[in-house]
Amino acid sequence: MRITITGTPGTGKSTVAQILSRKLSLPLYNLSDLIKKEKLYTSYDEKRDAFIVDTEKLKDFFKEKKDFIAEGLIAHYIPSDVIVILRAKPEVIISRLKERNYPQEKLNENAESERIAFCATEVFQNPLSPVIIHVDTTERKPEEVANVIMKGIKNGGLVEEIDWLEDQWDI
Ligand SMILES: Nc1ncnc2c1ncn2[C@@H]1O[C@H](COP(=O)(O)OP(=O)(O)OP(=O)(O)O)[C@@H](O)[C@H]1O
Ligand SMILES: [Mg+2]
Repeated sequence: MRITITGTPGTGKSTVAQILSRKLSLPLYNLSDLIKKEKLYTSYDEKRDAFIVDTEKLKDFFKEKKDFIAEGLIAHYIPSDVIVILRAKPEVIISRLKERNYPQEKLNENAESERIAFCATEVFQNPLSPVIIHVDTTERKPEEVANVIMKGIKNGGLVEEIDWLEDQWDI
């Protein structure tokens, strides 16, 4: 089975992907590591300290693979059998990412992109996977999130209604 996991930084993609990879015995790819290792980028943006991904090369890398979990901000660019979108309240995103000593600007940027559902909107507008699983991780432990995802896979999809637009958060 091919599973892709996307979502704003801090929603818990890497944490949950590790649990799922163990439970389902699927090889796990962290996309930011993979992109560097396999040079799947076109250039490097010094100002943002980020690689500009070559999405064609990325898709090619996974083209022949039948079993994997790929997790990262741009996982939804890769066709798969199941796409998982992880969500979390913007204020929770900030508190989870604070542990990484991210600058305030980056915390705000990520909270805002979660608030406006940036990743989720991209997926729902152009899904590259027949099964969509949209999960709120705010009040769930990683293990519980993994269980919800597995239930979603069994049921052929699971879309929780999530809308942070009315939410305010204190920084
Ligand atoms: N369900 C959860 N409940 C509470 N804390 C969580 C949960 N999932 C992840 N965390 C914690 O939040 C932080 C971010 O998690 P993680 O690194 O898995 O996010 P990510 O989506 O992979 O972020 P990035 O896109 O930056 O790689 C970690 O400290 C992790 O332990
Ligand atoms: Mg991660």
